[in-house]
Amino acid sequence: MAAPDLDRRSKEEMRLLDLGGHVGFDSLPDQLVSKSVSQGFSFNILCVGETGIGKSTLMNTLFNTIFETEESGHYEACVRLRPRTYDLQESNVHLKLTIVDAVGFGDQINKDERPIVDYIDTQFENYLQEELKIQRSLFDYHDTRIHVCLYFITPTGHSLKSLDLVTMKKLDSKVNIIPIIAKADTISKSELHKFKNKIMNELDKNGVQIYQFPTDDEAVAEINAVMNAHLPFAVVGSTDEIKVGNKLVRARQYPWGIVQVENESHCDFVKLREMLIRVNMEDLREQTHNRHYELYRRHKLEEMGFQDTAAESKPISLQETYETRRKEFLCELQKKEEEMRQMFVNKVKETELELKEKEKELHERFETLKRTHQEEKRKVEEKRRQLEEEKIAFNRRKAAVEAMQAQALQVTSQQPLRRDKDKKKTSGWSSIYSVTIS
Ligand code: GTP
Ligand code: MG
Repeated sequence: MAAPDLDRRSKEEMRLLDLGGHVGFDSLPDQLVSKSVSQGFSFNILCVGETGIGKSTLMNTLFNTIFETEESGHYEACVRLRPRTYDLQESNVHLKLTIVDAVGFGDQINKDERPIVDYIDTQFENYLQEELKIQRSLFDYHDTRIHVCLYFITPTGHSLKSLDLVTMKKLDSKVNIIPIIAKADTISKSELHKFKNKIMNELDKNGVQIYQFPTDDEAVAEINAVMNAHLPFAVVGSTDEIKVGNKLVRARQYPWGIVQVENESHCDFVKLREMLIRVNMEDLREQTHNRHYELYRRHKLEEMGFQDTAAESKPISLQETYETRRKEFLCELQKKEEEMRQMFVNKVKETELELKEKEKELHERFETLKRTHQEEKRKVEEKRRQLEEEKIAFNRRKAAVEAMQAQALQVTSQQPLRRDKDKKKTSGWSSIYSVTIS
């Protein structure tokens, strides 16, 4: 509400003055035109439609040239975006035209529209990065943001596929979508009329926002309003030239007749070319910058924590936002640092405890081993002592026997006559001796 008030006040403060003569600032529009012309223009078209639907043929027909192209197979692993840039010149106007094909779209089982969304976002991101640079070069920056998405609908005459609805819904806040019915020569006139209505109803029911040709500029309001009612355009593409009457026209020839591309009673090709290239090309570029890119930029900057106003709707400067974010970041960093330090201390404590536990275990094992060793030593000692005693006893008995033997020998030598009797005695001693030995 504040902005209109401000507008009114500044208007009241402004004074209208008459000029005394020609000053020259009425040449401003000319200066602008000449600057733009010398700078050249860029225009980027995204073609989304199933493989073989006629995308390349339509591009060739629209720009009346043959762009280098190759057929896509039906066996692509996933949807892939293929941009190709061309330098075109008409009169003294240079156009850097980029045509981006969504290769493999409609062939995939997972029906993923994400690569298309990602591609569009990447172009926005590149532009935003350039804008945020300290040393910007937006003047000669090659703007690759998609200005229009030509969405090719298969001419089934039935209804839109859910893939079409889902994809268009995902794209409508990021790009200007112009839906077109491809290969419109394969559908009858009455069927086409019903098909167009059905498509528009379905888009409306599912809340899909397609590009509306602007009606706020008086010069084109009428034609644009009429053309809005013709959407989606039913187009036929061909670069073949066929003689019709005295003229060579671009057409498709069939056994039953000729479909002329530029004949408005045959298809809407002329309407599409008129709206896309001749009337609304600049509006498409503007809408891309002011609406779609602006939305992306706003989300992105908000995500980064920037805002225009504080809680009490006080304006907040970039510097303030930066300072706040920096403080938040430092706090976060400090918190993380503290957490990590605590984690480290805990880990050290845990390891210390583990080591102590291990040391205790080792000590206990050492004590047990020591005790076992002492016990065994004691046993061995005991055994040795027993053996020692046995040895002494044996030696004693041995000495006694030897003494007795010596005594016996002495007796024998002194009494030879009593040999027989002594013999008996000796054998008695020797038996005692042998018993003691054993
Ligand atoms: P990919 O890039 O391989 O996905 O194919 P595409 O969508 O670029 O299709 P392309 O322009 O190569 O055309 C495929 C076939 O459809 C060709 O045989 C064209 O002649 C034919 N074709 C193109 N436009 C039309 C059309 O408006 N009507 C009919 N009936 N056939 C068309
Ligand atoms: Mg192609």
